[in-house]
Amino acid sequence: MGIKLDYISGQTPLNEIEISGLKIKTITTVGELNEHEQNNIEEAFHWALNRKIPIKTLLTREWIFNVHFRMFNKVWDWAGEKRTSNKNIGVDKYSIDPALIHMLDDIKYWIINRTFDPVEIAVRFKHRLVSIHCFPNGNGRHARLCADILIKYLTGQDGFTWGSHNSLYQESELRTTYIIA
Ligand SMILES: Nc1ncnc2c1ncn2[C@@H]1O[C@H](COP(=O)(O)OP(=O)(O)OP(=O)(O)O)[C@@H](O)[C@H]1O
Ligand SMILES: [Mg+2]
Repeated sequence: MGIKLDYISGQTPLNEIEISGLKIKTITTVGELNEHEQNNIEEAFHWALNRKIPIKTLLTREWIFNVHFRMFNKVWDWAGEKRTSNKNIGVDKYSIDPALIHMLDDIKYWIINRTFDPVEIAVRFKHRLVSIHCFPNGNGRHARLCADILIKYLTGQDGFTWGSHNSLYQESELRTTYIIA
């Protein structure tokens, strides 16, 4: 039995191959999928936010991909793997690595030269990362966590609230404002 996914605005639809990468075959509804993803993501939050990560680790392709792996590895077999199809958002699939390397270089430059304040650096990082769209899915949640990790590194403070817990997961005025931004 398969699963049929309903998408809300600003979500990247998955293709057949990506959907077949679902690891938990008992999942049949979007509600069940969300719950499994959420549990997996919460583990990744603890793992990522309760450790000291040196900046030379944090701003690497390896780390960025590892965070995605940790967020989705219990649910999707393509967790932490680069997107191999083009989507309605994101760079061409062959440009993902060059765009990512370029972005990471920019961020390092901004930090060293204090080009922007830490919050602005983290927000620009999130926006660039989600615009590249490295993965088949989970790019929004992944980029928000990566920004949280970076802000924590830069300021020692906790990350953004993103409009408080889980509130971006449903269709809402807040989500519309977020997508437009
Ligand atoms: N038209 C758009 N304009 C700007 N950003 C967009 C647009 N469409 C999608 N996005 C970005 O892509 C993300 C959705 O990508 P994807 O479905 O891979 O991530 P997700 O983590 O599954 O989604 P979500 O953000 O719903 O948690 C959104 O969070 C948003 O940041
Ligand atoms: Mg999605």
